[in-house]
Amino acid sequence: MTIDQTALDQIFLNARTANGFLDKPVPVALLRQAYDLAKMCPTSMNTQPTRYLFLVSPESRQRLKPALSPGNVDKTLAAPVTVIVATDMRFHEHMPQVWHGEGAQAMFEDNPAMASATAIRNGTLGGAYFILAARAVGLDCGPMSGFDIAKVNAEFFPDGRLQANFLINLGYADHSKEFKRNPRLSFEQAAQVL
Ligand SMILES: Cc1cc2nc3c(=O)[nH]c(=O)nc-3n(C[C@H](O)[C@H](O)[C@H](O)COP(=O)(O)O)c2cc1C
Repeated sequence: MTIDQTALDQIFLNARTANGFLDKPVPVALLRQAYDLAKMCPTSMNTQPTRYLFLVSPESRQRLKPALSPGNVDKTLAAPVTVIVATDMRFHEHMPQVWHGEGAQAMFEDNPAMASATAIRNGTLGGAYFILAARAVGLDCGPMSGFDIAKVNAEFFPDGRLQANFLINLGYADHSKEFKRNPRLSFEQAAQVL
């Protein structure tokens, strides 16, 4: 059964990438609610390698500022929350908790290439799931890859275990600041049915 039109509109059809935010705070409880939805989405072997560092205080956003591309500075400082979506490269330490089978942790530890590919693929999925979950709880999202990953890693994740993937500004959009909607590829352009 397809979810109702209101939900489709909120999550997909009317949702826009936020490019500016209203001066309206985001309760931490809402971030938790979004996480509790996103965490239920699938990852390979339930690995869940995505980590979320929510920057709520102005001080924490100031620490991020030197890493931002110029075009991303103002909207990030104006956003009520910016989340650093990161990947836990040691996600396999949690396998005994999150996977029913024996030996999953050792399997990843013995195969660093597979562990790395799993972390990267599923870490990004987690960020995407979080965008949809945030929209589902009424938040607007402004994802960004325009920043210096090495600077963010050095500032926020100095021990190297977490690796920044992308950022998402979160809050309630100032719709007057949105860019014009760009076209999407058609099904025929993007898909094949064999
Ligand atoms: C991973 C990712 C990185 C992005 N990086 C930036 C960015 O650095 N700066 C920016 O202004 N927009 C950035 N965007 C926003 C995209 O351009 C925007 O989501 C896309 O054009 C669709 O816009 P719409 O949702 O309003 O249709 C990024 C989006 C994603 C998903």
